[in-house]
Amino acid sequence: MSAEHEGGVTPASEEDVRRAYEDNKLAQVLYHDWESGTYDAKWAIDFDERCATYAKDRFLGVVGEPLPAGEALPYRRALEIGAGTGFFSLNLRVAGVVDEVHVTDLSPGMVEVARRNAQELGFDVEGRVADAEHLPYDDDTFDVVVGHAVIHHIPDVELAFREMLRVLKPGGRFVIAGEPTRIGHAYARRLGHATWIATKAITHLPPLRERYARPKEELDESSRAAALEAVVDLHTFDPAELAATARAAGATEVRTHTEELTAALLGWPVRTIEAGVKEGALGMRWAMFAFSSWKRLSLIDEKVLSRVVPQKFFYNVGITGVKPR
Ligand SMILES: C[S@@+](CC[C@H](N)C(=O)[O-])C[C@H]1O[C@@H](n2cnc3c(N)ncnc32)[C@H](O)[C@@H]1O
Repeated sequence: MSAEHEGGVTPASEEDVRRAYEDNKLAQVLYHDWESGTYDAKWAIDFDERCATYAKDRFLGVVGEPLPAGEALPYRRALEIGAGTGFFSLNLRVAGVVDEVHVTDLSPGMVEVARRNAQELGFDVEGRVADAEHLPYDDDTFDVVVGHAVIHHIPDVELAFREMLRVLKPGGRFVIAGEPTRIGHAYARRLGHATWIATKAITHLPPLRERYARPKEELDESSRAAALEAVVDLHTFDPAELAATARAAGATEVRTHTEELTAALLGWPVRTIEAGVKEGALGMRWAMFAFSSWKRLSLIDEKVLSRVVPQKFFYNVGITGVKPR
């Protein structure tokens, strides 16, 4: 990651990290503002067929049923919470799942990038800086509320579900995807840590150093980011407990869906290696190997393992629920 990010956002200093320990919402803003300029590159986010299909598959996987054929779109007006750069809702719009998109996020830097991404796609999208625990919208406004990799950052998850339900029209649905499970996070973190140490050691061997070793300043910056990351990642979820939280908030027709077991066992080391080596050092063949292996393993997880392995062992959990009529 470069020291200068787009949009004038500066990397977190050690002083920022200290203040962030005292105020979690400030930590969220600092960390995600800092990430916003490089976020799309880091996660290979685009608004093309690959990402639109990924977003649509995640959405329908959580909902558990296909879009109704031949009927008017049931999810016309959509709100995304913790939208980041707009990955989920803008790709759902590209895929034709939703129509009118409103993106919100606690981080002004993220909202700015999401607005810019929407503009580049030619979409008329409203973007607001907003806390998912206190949404600045009237009751009964949206057909669907979506979120991706966001509720594990929110201190009071039940309050966030209550807010989603409040702004939904009666009969409207929330769809949250890509949250870490408790067990999945534990094995991913251990794998990631071991891979990080091995990558640093191997890339500093004399024959490999020049081509692969990341400069020290970049590694230091990553370590500061990792320190903040530990502050902003607040929860991991047991799927059954998450469903109980949504029901306690007033949701009906609650359903959880889990994904990625072997795909996560491959994915975390792969992403850690990518973060640990010099930018561009791994090349196109590596990227193709990583993506096609992840796809193959995801398919095995979905078609085979999800039938026999309990939900809580998968890495990602998604949840949906409906506002009572
Ligand atoms: C891991 S990023 C995910 C971004 C995007 N949804 C995606 O999947 O690419 C989490 C996002 O949640 C936002 N966030 C954290 N706490 C929040 C809160 N209380 N309300 C709204 N957004 C929040 C962060 O600023 C960040 O953009």
